[in-house]
Amino acid sequence: MARPLRADIDLDALRHNYRLARDLAPRSQAVAVLKADAYGHGLVRCARALEGLAPAFAVACLEEALALREGGIKAPIVLLEGIFAAEELALVEAQGLWMAVHSDWQVDALLAYRPARPIPVWVKVDSGMHRLGFPPERLAAVWARLAAAPEQARDLHLMSHFATADAEDSDYFRRQSALLETLAADLGAPTCLANSPATLSRPESHGAWNRPGVMLYGSDPLETPNAVSRRLAPVMTLRSEIIAVRELPAEEPVGYGGRWRTPRPSRIGVVACGYGDGYDRHAVDGTPVLVDGRRTGLAGKVSMDMLTVDLTDLPGTDIGSEVVLWGRSSDGSVLSVDELARHCATISYTLLTGVLPRVPRRYHGGPSGTDPH
Ligand SMILES: Cc1ncc(COP(=O)(O)O)c(C=O)c1O
Repeated sequence: MARPLRADIDLDALRHNYRLARDLAPRSQAVAVLKADAYGHGLVRCARALEGLAPAFAVACLEEALALREGGIKAPIVLLEGIFAAEELALVEAQGLWMAVHSDWQVDALLAYRPARPIPVWVKVDSGMHRLGFPPERLAAVWARLAAAPEQARDLHLMSHFATADAEDSDYFRRQSALLETLAADLGAPTCLANSPATLSRPESHGAWNRPGVMLYGSDPLETPNAVSRRLAPVMTLRSEIIAVRELPAEEPVGYGGRWRTPRPSRIGVVACGYGDGYDRHAVDGTPVLVDGRRTGLAGKVSMDMLTVDLTDLPGTDIGSEVVLWGRSSDGSVLSVDELARHCATISYTLLTGVLPRVPRRYHGGPSGTDPH
């Protein structure tokens, strides 16, 4: 019998979430952000599931774009950070990629290059994230250089990233948004600004393109969920089983360091999943876990290959009982990755991208139906 841990990926849920992002912004197009192995869900499988639905995909680097092309994906692919070296331009051109530019050296490299056809370019401005992008006061000059080079650059868009779109009420978001509105108006530029939280809750930021990422995978990025974010469906379910059960008297320590002690005579279930699979070791005692669809809590520190849960109040559970670490259990109960993240002092992004390669991915649904492998 194989180790029972696996990550089930529901491609129908991915398509449902994409449609929510698209329908929220009927005058925009939504580029599906697939970087970091589609947030841990499998780059090519997710792209194939969205092909025909999403008009373009976004990744962080050329290597991810090439993996998509090797996987047979023909749709436009945007490099969100552009090139990392001038030599990459030949592949950008050959593979028909679109690129962001955020620094002068990238513009210099592009203008020194002689493509057979101009390359679509998204010009990134730093409107307040202070990570990548041209300072706002330099944007017009950079834009003018690119606009004057129609043999190198075409379809210029203004791109920027929000620092606080997830907050319920954010002056900083309003400042970024107002600045971007002015910059776009001055240039007469189409925009690409909105990440998932902005797609979900800031219609004023919707542009020619939006860039939803984490919401496609069913995680709600909003500080306060709204009517649409509540309809997001989990795409990944991290699922395992109870592999051993211990009956312990009161006052017994469980696991490394004895962090958790049985408060009463207790039944402890051992689950085949640990930090060596990507489950967060910072999970505190009581972190929710679903066993046969019923909620219980983590009992003791997470080990490399196992973790322990309290089964005392879950009669009928035993070796072989289904354990859902996050996602949807067989009976339909949901434990969201966002809720888990709060118990681990982290965010859903790190949990989803942190599932390690030894966890087999099983794919379900998608345009061509169930395809477990
Ligand atoms: C430039 C850029 N655009 C879009 C996204 C998607 O953001 P989210 O996953 O919050 O929707 C990211 C993610 O980090 C990003 O870096």
